Amino acid sequence: MGSVVIIGAQWGDEGKGKVVDLLAERAEIVARYQGGNNAGHTLVVGGEKTVLHLIPSGILRTSIRNVIGQGVVVDPRVFLGEIDALEARDALPDLRHQLGLCHRAAVIMPYHVALDKAREARLKGGKIGTTGRGIGPAYEDVAARRAVRVGDLLDPELLGQRLDRVLDEKNALLEWLGVEPFDRAALIAEMTALGERLRPIICDTGAEVRAALEGGKHVLFEGAQGVLLDVLHGTYPFVTSSNTIAGSVATGLGLPAHAVGRVIGIAKAYATRVGAGPFPTELDDAVGQHLRDTGGEYGSTTGRPRRCGWLDLPALRYAHALNGFGALVLTKLDVLTGLDSVEVCVGYRIDGQVLEVLPADEAQLVGAEPVYETLTGWSEDITGVRTFEDLPEAARAYVRYIEDATGVPVEVIGVGPGRSETLIRSDLWG
Ligand code: GDP
Ligand code: IMO
Ligand code: MG
Repeated sequence: MGSVVIIGAQWGDEGKGKVVDLLAERAEIVARYQGGNNAGHTLVVGGEKTVLHLIPSGILRTSIRNVIGQGVVVDPRVFLGEIDALEARDALPDLRHQLGLCHRAAVIMPYHVALDKAREARLKGGKIGTTGRGIGPAYEDVAARRAVRVGDLLDPELLGQRLDRVLDEKNALLEWLGVEPFDRAALIAEMTALGERLRPIICDTGAEVRAALEGGKHVLFEGAQGVLLDVLHGTYPFVTSSNTIAGSVATGLGLPAHAVGRVIGIAKAYATRVGAGPFPTELDDAVGQHLRDTGGEYGSTTGRPRRCGWLDLPALRYAHALNGFGALVLTKLDVLTGLDSVEVCVGYRIDGQVLEVLPADEAQLVGAEPVYETLTGWSEDITGVRTFEDLPEAARAYVRYIEDATGVPVEVIGVGPGRSETLIRSDLWG
């Protein structure tokens, strides 16, 4: 199989970074194709923790390329900050040869960040709870054909022309929101200086990935966020501003649709959500707090406590329907250890009727009361387990239950944050 896509099957933070790092061992290229530094992907290797926001999660494997395609929105300050922080480590002296950034990718400008924050602050009820990184405003400009793109940062005159199409409007809006406007000359100076630092890694990532695939190389596509945060298919309007489903690999990198190979869904053994929006299985009780504490459920990007709840099977089936998962990776099974029983949501009671599919109507989802089935818990520590047969019977039954309910095999199970704390039942590369 030439390519594998890693997709968050829930509301993000499923453990995609860990899985990408694991699979990257056999990849030639790891590519990001959507989202931006709203993502926070955590890798734990040899006890050392690395949180990546823009740099793809294959970066710790020093022999492979990590590229950022044109579907990603890129904040150069954040990106360069991440590069500097990693290069300060002895183990990664030559990062720039590993990295490629598409010249067509849209730039998150300082005014995007200011707009994102100011708009959220202004909303009283109905806040989205964005990460405040400028993601939504940057994608708006892509659709409106007024984005600054990475290649524009290499030419002060061109950047000036781009700014002339947008800056007055941005500044008027910012002033209306009570925020200081931005100065054209200062923006050009700051952004072209960043562009010069990026120059050695700016390239045509689409051409690179197409050539790799044509040459039969292994390419790993790293999704950010999760299916239920997709701008078209998620719990709108409480979503991010990009398409997070596997279909966006082709558009985000510039590949033929058939290049999207095996699709792997990453799902937590329970569910979490950061930010606002419907979350039917949310637990506002001691069990929810237990999951948060045991699972370390605090945002990798913003540090916010994540909302925690039971696994939602109709939502997972919906994610499968949109992505066609060939396999699931079930992460954080270890976090459920110690619970007498484990609940799984099998449907929703809405206006007295039980629905076994995720309702499309947001208002219905808000009022949905989950219908649960109760499974037996287990108390044994499973963090050292490496084969499925060595898991406690109740844990195996839980995994089988998920496979039956979704129709997708669970091929890898996470039993801890470390790269090796993983139970591999079959090769995800297919
Ligand atoms: P991502 O955004 O999907 O890459 O996920 P995050 O990195 O934001 O959040 C997942 C968190 O769970 C990180 O702190 C990981 O180190 C951790 N993690 C991943 N897999 C496992 C697992 O199987 N067990 C435990 N206990 N932690 C895990
Ligand atoms: P990873 O890749 C979890 C959420 C935010 C908010 C909504 C919109 O680590 O799984 P945005 O800043 O994108 O406009 O915020 O989306 N969100 C995430 N939640 N994991 C993420 O990324 C997220 N990226 C955005 O919390 O609810
Ligand atoms: Mg995350």
